[in-house]
Amino acid sequence: MITQLLILVNLFATFSLLPATATNQFCEAGIDYGESGCQISSSSSKILIKGGTVVNSHHQEVADVYVEDGLIIAVQPNIKVGDDVIVLDATGKYVMPGGIDPHTHLDMEFMGTQTIDDFFSGQAAALAGGTTMHIDFVIPVDGSLTAGLKLYKQKAQKSCMDYGFHMAITKWDEVVSKEMDLMVKEEGINSFKFFMLYKGSFMINDELLIEGFKKCKSLGALPMVHAENGDAVFEGQKRMIELGITGPEGHALSRPPLLEGEATARAIRLARFVNTPLYVVHVMSIDAMEEVAKARKSGQRVIGEPVVSGLILNDSVLWDPDFSIASKHVPLVICFIFVPSNYQYVMSPPIRAAGHAKALQGALSSGVLQLVGTDHCTFSSTQKAFGIDDFRKIPNGVNGLEERMHLVWDTMVESGQISASDYVRITSTECAKIFNIYPRKGAILPGSDADIIILNPNASFTISAKLHQYRTDTNVYEGVTGKGKVEVTIAGGKIVWKNGELKAFPGSGKYVEMPPFSYVFDGIEKADSNYLSSLQAPVKRSRSST
Ligand SMILES: *[C@@H]1O[C@H](CO)[C@@H](O)[C@H](O)[C@H]1NC(C)=O
Ligand SMILES: *[C@@H]1O[C@H](CO)[C@@H](O)[C@H](O)[C@H]1NC(C)=O
Ligand SMILES: [Zn+2]
Repeated sequence: MITQLLILVNLFATFSLLPATATNQFCEAGIDYGESGCQISSSSSKILIKGGTVVNSHHQEVADVYVEDGLIIAVQPNIKVGDDVIVLDATGKYVMPGGIDPHTHLDMEFMGTQTIDDFFSGQAAALAGGTTMHIDFVIPVDGSLTAGLKLYKQKAQKSCMDYGFHMAITKWDEVVSKEMDLMVKEEGINSFKFFMLYKGSFMINDELLIEGFKKCKSLGALPMVHAENGDAVFEGQKRMIELGITGPEGHALSRPPLLEGEATARAIRLARFVNTPLYVVHVMSIDAMEEVAKARKSGQRVIGEPVVSGLILNDSVLWDPDFSIASKHVPLVICFIFVPSNYQYVMSPPIRAAGHAKALQGALSSGVLQLVGTDHCTFSSTQKAFGIDDFRKIPNGVNGLEERMHLVWDTMVESGQISASDYVRITSTECAKIFNIYPRKGAILPGSDADIIILNPNASFTISAKLHQYRTDTNVYEGVTGKGKVEVTIAGGKIVWKNGELKAFPGSGKYVEMPPFSYVFDGIEKADSNYLSSLQAPVKRSRSST
């Protein structure tokens, strides 16, 4: 019955993908925003932010911030300006670097469909939530990095905020290895992601992981891993289906934390063997976090990235038996579909049992984990329903790009777990440092890009699919409220979000090239030469002749 209803509704699915709710806030061309785009804001490019508490990761002070032509010109008390300058009063508020999300998937083909948010709608939502840059993952086309990059450059032409790229590695051969040189030396990419799962498609084995790590190290590019044991996940999925568990709870049960812990430990040890820094994306469990902690304690350079969903949610939602009725507005008709409300929570690694989130928060405040991403990867409820009969077919991914700054503030700062300076570090500065674009990004300093937010700690926020800027019709944080509201976002020196009004312009975002050999590579050579001289080998042996 439900399945039949869905098939009917799928006929309309294409219509529901239209950005119906978002357009009113955007410029007119927003409906079919393309290369032509629309007029860049004509508002003054001179802005003075007065009297706020300016927070950097190293220091905070009450000061004015003066912005001109996209750059921060001065940060000091009592700056005097002329009449042609827009003045924003930030008294009693925090003035901080715009957020940088290190982990997003916009306009990505995945599991037989396409994420619903593209480089415009996803970024516009980001700006409304105080994020002014993100790093997205280029997915190669049939293994080709060059073809993948070409495609993503096209996708990103409609960008309304600055962005950078990581590159995924989905197969390994000589051509891919040579293309990696090109990506680093000519294209401004300084990180590559390896998948230890998705058996039969992206997954690469240990031999290739070692090759990949060696290549990254030689280029000064950071290897990243999605750490889950792909063979065991495959086995776990089979087991659930055999037990007749086909709903979203089967997703969590098929890939328990120990499989994330195992792969994280293996990747960390192989990185140590190669002596390269390593970045573990979406640390979702205590098991994986403890492997990162152990390695860092021993002096190894491992960066652990929790994502907002992992810091906040727990897996109880996956057991929820309720179906919700989502109404779909399509031209001429309104149709109703039954969608299990919990399909939207399916992502990999899965959202864990209660307890993991709190432990990850602790790891973040103590410095065991370094920065917060989202793994933002949205599908509509119609797309999520592809897995109505089989959890393995539910497109994986949750939202977060718009909510990250608010939720991290509320969960970590408002709760007293970290300071405002730490907040700036984990949402912006550390990302800029790791990917080698600091202090152009991640700081409120003279000469830095004018990507700035003004956060009112006394105002509150409410999250709802009715209010968000995405195109997707659900929100995994539906109904969540908290304290600390981003009231103004300035991106590239323009006010793009103020008084709940978004002024995002397709084509205004710039590609940010990220050079290799960031600070995480400092000293790696010395460690290598110390290693070589410590070997006391080969031992010279003289053969006695008889
Ligand atoms: C927020 O509340 C604090 C403490 O009451 C106060 O010092 C500050 O000025 C307030 N800020 C705003 C913008 O109202
Ligand atoms: C788990 O999540 C549910 C639903 O969001 C929430 O009501 C519950 O309080 C959470 N449990 C814990 C222990 O945090
Ligand atoms: Zn991801």
